[in-house]
Amino acid sequence: MIEFRNVSKSYDKRTLILKNIDFKVKTGEFVVLIGESGCGKTTTMKLVNRLIDPTEGSVIIDGEDISKVNPIILRRRIGYVIQKEGLMPHMTIGENIEIVPKLLKWDEQKRKSRSYELLSLLNLDPEIYYEKYPHEVSGGQKQRVGIARALAVNPDIILMDEPFSALDPITRENIQDEVLKLQKELGKTIIFVTHDMDEAIKLGERIAFLKDGEILQFDTPDQILKNPASEYIEQFIGKDRIWKTPNKLLVSDIMTKQYWTIEKRSNISRAFNLLKTHDTDFLIVTEIEGGKHLEPLGIIFRKNLIYAMENGLTRVRDVMDKDFVTIDKDSNLLDVLNKMSSINAKVISVVDNNNHLTGVITNIGLLNAISKIAPTNSEESEVDTYE
Ligand SMILES: Nc1ncnc2c1ncn2[C@@H]1O[C@H](COP(=O)(O)OP(=O)(O)O)[C@@H](O)[C@H]1O
Ligand SMILES: [Mg+2]
Repeated sequence: MIEFRNVSKSYDKRTLILKNIDFKVKTGEFVVLIGESGCGKTTTMKLVNRLIDPTEGSVIIDGEDISKVNPIILRRRIGYVIQKEGLMPHMTIGENIEIVPKLLKWDEQKRKSRSYELLSLLNLDPEIYYEKYPHEVSGGQKQRVGIARALAVNPDIILMDEPFSALDPITRENIQDEVLKLQKELGKTIIFVTHDMDEAIKLGERIAFLKDGEILQFDTPDQILKNPASEYIEQFIGKDRIWKTPNKLLVSDIMTKQYWTIEKRSNISRAFNLLKTHDTDFLIVTEIEGGKHLEPLGIIFRKNLIYAMENGLTRVRDVMDKDFVTIDKDSNLLDVLNKMSSINAKVISVVDNNNHLTGVITNIGLLNAISKIAPTNSEESEVDTYE
């Protein structure tokens, strides 16, 4: 675990570049630092591998105050990937990856086999790339080599400072996917700096939002999207963000608990009364009435009751709509929209893991929920104007 305890940093004793930075990164966690240029992301990062030291407070790694650890030793367990000037131009890719292994006096055989292993891991054919020079490969490939080099001596922590910001969007997407996969496979603790909200949402398990040297919010991407801690953050992420990531809006955010149930053996007249009393358009038919933990079996609309009267049927279960739909409470907006449109449902019952009714989504409720988060015409996304 990496722990920042009330860390402040100033260079000239007057201006505080970082103010009381206090957060924890769990072992194996992927944390993204995001904020505008100059807000202190790189400074925060450099405190972890002691490229700089705090003016006040301390950085603790696995319980140890790193101000007491020799920086050279410390850096062996911390890989560092930066955007530019990462690779030595006069060294081959192999030599670049082996800089630290060489310092550690690994023999040639061990170094080379590690390089080969890492190049393969990053989807670069070692037979082709090991001997090449940085100027002979693309930007995306250089960044892959940068990551391979950071992994060379198998550090448990990786710091990545805007590593992909110079890449074209497609290369960037690919390499982001690879980094996610790598982290899952290798279980590294990663601190990743970006000023791009799309990237932060895609990669971060948690995102620390910085402004003027302070953390404004430190939370999961979901929470930051749904409950931005300030107007500034809201603006930064852009109101239309949720449209770009509808899978981040969960059923539990859209559903309502305002619904009424009726037991399947009940009489039609009881259904009429309930509809009238509660001024509702539908009733969810359940196995047992009352209580909360019921399996939904069907739905009753007014039209079903009229059908019952016309055909002399008296029980709710004989006239309820049986081809109604349920959805899992952990599903997202996309799933809801798919379900609603595929069967043209007006009401969807939300069920928990035990298939018990826990809420409903109506088409009107869905529209309401959506309109609260919908982008307005006058507001363009501001995301891309930063940096
Ligand atoms: N060595 C330094 N001396 C003085 N000021 C610095 C130094 N390094 C960074 N700063 C200032 O600290 C602030 C934060 O910088 P930085 O952490 O690099 O921001 P970011 O990475 O978020 O763009 C900036 O205002 C920058 O000018
Ligand atoms: Mg920076």
